[in-house]
Amino acid sequence: MSEQNLLLSFRDATISNGAYDVLESVHLQLAKAEFCYLIGETGSGKSSLLKTVYADNALKKGKGMVLGHDLRNLSRQEIPQMRRKMGMIFQDFQLFHEWSVARNLAYVLSVTGWKEKSKMQNRIEEVLMAVGLEEKEKQLVYSLSGGEQQRLAIARAILNKPQMIIADEPTGNLDPDTSDAILFLLRDVALANSAAILVATHDQRILDKFPARVFRCHHKELLELD
Ligand SMILES: Nc1ncnc2c1ncn2[C@@H]1O[C@H](COP(=O)(O)OP(=O)(O)O)[C@@H](O)[C@H]1O
Ligand SMILES: [Mg+2]
Repeated sequence: MSEQNLLLSFRDATISNGAYDVLESVHLQLAKAEFCYLIGETGSGKSSLLKTVYADNALKKGKGMVLGHDLRNLSRQEIPQMRRKMGMIFQDFQLFHEWSVARNLAYVLSVTGWKEKSKMQNRIEEVLMAVGLEEKEKQLVYSLSGGEQQRLAIARAILNKPQMIIADEPTGNLDPDTSDAILFLLRDVALANSAAILVATHDQRILDKFPARVFRCHHKELLELD
């Protein structure tokens, strides 16, 4: 695989949790539209690796290229530029619970440079349609179910048509049927956007049901499983 086709490339990278190193000699390459899992026990470094990908944790050793940005040489302005090309789905959703569904989305559009109200409204309707929440636009987030909140987190992640989607334990607190629906949805939205997707999970069930490349964090190493 040539470097140009890679959205993400770590070579001999050391991953830190912000305080100390949790993974060493990490090699990880992700190509366009590729679906990939990151597994490992709690505390094995999955979230730390994802945080390094979106530059929340600094990369201090080794090479890391993400969407054309060198993680070792990121300027302050480059971090938001890089994040705009990614969709991030966090473990705890990070939604504004007192706000409506639409307002949560409008907020992200406005902080990422959208100005025209009618275009913003159109995009909000598109992403809500994509995740099946078109009827919930005006509802306050705290009154949504866990599965609906996860759908909203996905809608928010795809607002700016990301080249890469990163999801940290997207099925963490969901029942099996809702988890399956979320995985179907993630696959669909990634496909529709030709986006690559990196999913951290410890849910073996979804690995069996939705097979894809698997990397495992274990004993400070990242290994690709066959
Ligand atoms: N900011 C931090 N400061 C100190 N330790 C941390 C910090 N964040 C995570 N850790 C620790 O680093 C290890 C890896 O954490 P994490 O990457 O969150 O693992 P995972 O997502 O696989 O559960 C864990 O032992 C965790 O407790
Ligand atoms: Mg984690």
